[in-house]
Amino acid sequence: MIQGFDHVEFYVGSAKMVAYWYAKALGFAIAGYRGPENGCKDRTSYYLVKNKIKLVMTSALQPETQDISSFVTTHGDGVKRFSVLVDNVESAYHRAIEHGAISVRKPYRSEDKHGTLEEAFIRIYDDTELGFINYDHYTGLFKPGFDAPIQDFVIQCEDTGLESIDHIVGNVREKEMDRWADYFNKTLDFETFIEFGPGDITTKYSALLSKVVRAKDNVIKLPINEPYKGLKKSQIEEYIEEYHGTGIQHIAIATPDILSSIRALRKNGVEFLEVPATYYEELKKKKFKITEDIDELQKLGILCDIEGQGYLLQLFTKPIGDRPTFFFEIIQRRNGAQGFGQGNFQALFEAIEQDQKKRGNW
Ligand code: FE2
Repeated sequence: MIQGFDHVEFYVGSAKMVAYWYAKALGFAIAGYRGPENGCKDRTSYYLVKNKIKLVMTSALQPETQDISSFVTTHGDGVKRFSVLVDNVESAYHRAIEHGAISVRKPYRSEDKHGTLEEAFIRIYDDTELGFINYDHYTGLFKPGFDAPIQDFVIQCEDTGLESIDHIVGNVREKEMDRWADYFNKTLDFETFIEFGPGDITTKYSALLSKVVRAKDNVIKLPINEPYKGLKKSQIEEYIEEYHGTGIQHIAIATPDILSSIRALRKNGVEFLEVPATYYEELKKKKFKITEDIDELQKLGILCDIEGQGYLLQLFTKPIGDRPTFFFEIIQRRNGAQGFGQGNFQALFEAIEQDQKKRGNW
């Protein structure tokens, strides 16, 4: 039984500097550390926490640390794996394998003075992994090998209020989306929740297809995108070229107050996609009652998609690292909105296209 997202591990060029950016810009606390000072000679990891969100930044310390150095050389900084919390690692793993999952690591235990932790991993996308984790017999701060940071990081920033992971999105090649949706549905007992076909997500120039799979009780949502033919290069194609493969495109982070979150993130220096002013004129014409002031949304560049009785407020950051690959989405769901902002796709994708042009990938 899957209980929810647990943590996401990134492989990066310099974990210490990336951890500093996540602390300073996104408001994470640097809560744990693994490296030479506590017995790990070949890699260093910083464990970051903000409310229910747990991230790990890991980099190689030796040229022989091939799993990390070859990942970073090929893909740039990116998501290596994310783990889901389960009540039984053995049974979640074996169920997945029996239904066709590709094994990366069989269930294993690691231990320290705080107890025993059980994990296992399966392959998803090209170079990405999905982990199963269970903390029933472990009381340490994160995992065996991690201790409190060796130095006291005093990093001042605006409180971003980021709360939890809402969904994690993968980009795959043309004609691979259905295969991956089936893979999750079969191996994790998920179901396809929403499907965006030809014409649903398109601008004048480029297009993509998307399927959202989810755990049946909705605790995990995994949208999968593939490029679709258009006049110009799809942003999914650009991702695959620049990332040199398929992988995680974005993580959507939920906040209970998106106005405060975006205000704080902007003050902290986070860059967001730029939405044209005409978007807000259209939004006002819809005359849908929302709690937020539309002028305030415009000032902060936040998008609003109406969906039945509910609505969804969202905004995408610009790519976080050097390559136009991984980014974050900040999202607030109001009155039970369940969607992904279909009404905003055009505005968002036109904004992405403007940036693609600047990069010469158009
Ligand atoms: Fe999203």
